[in-house]
Amino acid sequence: MKEQLERAEAGVAKLLEGRSDRWYPLFHIAAKAGWINDPNGLSYFNGRYQVYFQHHPFGTQWGPMHWGHVSSEDMVTWRREPIAMAPSIEADRDGVFSGSAVVSDDNQLVAYYTGHRWRNGVNEDEGNLQVQCMAVSDDGITFEKTGVIVECPEGLLHFRDPKVWRMGDTWYMVFGACSAENRGQVWLYTSTDMKSWEFDRVIFTDPNPRVFMLECPDMFPLDDKWVITYCPMGTKPERYVARNGHNAGYVVGDWQPGGVFEQITDYRTIDWGHQFYAPQSFEAPDGRRIEYGWLGSFTMPIATQEVDGWCGQFTVPRELTLDKNNHLRSFPIAEIEQLRTETIDFGAFELGLNGDKVLVDDDGGAVEIELEVDLASTSAERIGLRVHNTPDGGHTYVAYDDLAGRVDLDRRLTGNGDRGHRAAPYEGGSQLRLRVLVDRGSVEVFVNDGAESITSYSFPNKGPRAVVLCAESGVTKVNGLKVHRLRTIWESPDR
Ligand code: FRU
Repeated sequence: MKEQLERAEAGVAKLLEGRSDRWYPLFHIAAKAGWINDPNGLSYFNGRYQVYFQHHPFGTQWGPMHWGHVSSEDMVTWRREPIAMAPSIEADRDGVFSGSAVVSDDNQLVAYYTGHRWRNGVNEDEGNLQVQCMAVSDDGITFEKTGVIVECPEGLLHFRDPKVWRMGDTWYMVFGACSAENRGQVWLYTSTDMKSWEFDRVIFTDPNPRVFMLECPDMFPLDDKWVITYCPMGTKPERYVARNGHNAGYVVGDWQPGGVFEQITDYRTIDWGHQFYAPQSFEAPDGRRIEYGWLGSFTMPIATQEVDGWCGQFTVPRELTLDKNNHLRSFPIAEIEQLRTETIDFGAFELGLNGDKVLVDDDGGAVEIELEVDLASTSAERIGLRVHNTPDGGHTYVAYDDLAGRVDLDRRLTGNGDRGHRAAPYEGGSQLRLRVLVDRGSVEVFVNDGAESITSYSFPNKGPRAVVLCAESGVTKVNGLKVHRLRTIWESPDR
């Protein structure tokens, strides 16, 4: 693989020369240059958090997939690592697709991924050959491919994205599949030696008959329940739900090894924004369930693709919990607060009728806003934050909308890229809490400590990027408001 990896590094280096940083993230993981999609191989190994990613090193579009790599001691400061895997064997000829990584008893990092081939060698017209492959590493940096460990069962059109975990002496692996009847499914296999795998059962079939494939399934315990997250292909938009070309959701149920998955909730959206796909989770050494999503999409064109030299990033790491209604909550891990370099505390105040308050007027390229509003003493119909607010009036509007009972992220006036709005339901009662993370090219909104989230690209126009609090038609009782400036996550920000 050495030669392929050298070529890939050269590809990134070439793109990096021309990279524009106007929207390049400061505190979200992204490739130095080139395209990225799904998070892969999330793990804690060799005293560091390991994050791999689907990576096309030769362009800003999706292309032959590699595994890029970054690592960190604390999930706050990150180091760029060499590209970990490139297509190099017949089984992964057309791509080293998504997968996961676990630590073996003899302290190796074992990666499972999908080896992807187009039957005709150029596109999907005559179908795919997708097999699950294994690769092993002593240091998390250099991998040796073992080859195919699970062949694609006869009749399946898609069969990919292995996610592995361990319980006792048994290893479990789920994949996404498109059944012979064209239904989206999750298949479960087991192993005791990590190499030979046996079919256990189809653990989940999406009840929606339109759905033909479940990409990137993940299955993990939270409290005494099991959660399956997955990305259903074939859904159609319904009001606020499934608005994106590619969407991610979850179901909660009961499961025991060797048994069926008994689903107890309906399918629900994980994140309501334009850009949230292919999430993967892992268990941190302290037991927290942490998830990264791909903060990107296959909805083209994307504003960074043309001249900026990069495309795609990850969400901040989010801790997942279940509330008493089996509702999945996701909130930035506590460590993210270590990125704060300066805090401006506006305290409590009242904002008058149609009030506007400028919170940051310089280049607030990477900021975090914490806003608490007493809705019981508020008559404003919408209370919002204009972020990426440039002198020409361009901005992205994040607002609580009291008429709709939702929190909205509106890109109607966003400087560049796709427009439209997305909105999460608000069921939080009279104390509204919004936490908004604004990077140079994205916005992540967390409602009431992670009850809902909304994640979208936001590519501002030229000029300083202000943050403005505003209220429409009524007064607003702000209980607390802080703006934090955030630093970069990179150990050596030398690109
Ligand atoms: C999801 C996905 C996966 C696949 C990978 C290829 O975004 O399509 O199903 O493994 O991306 O890059």
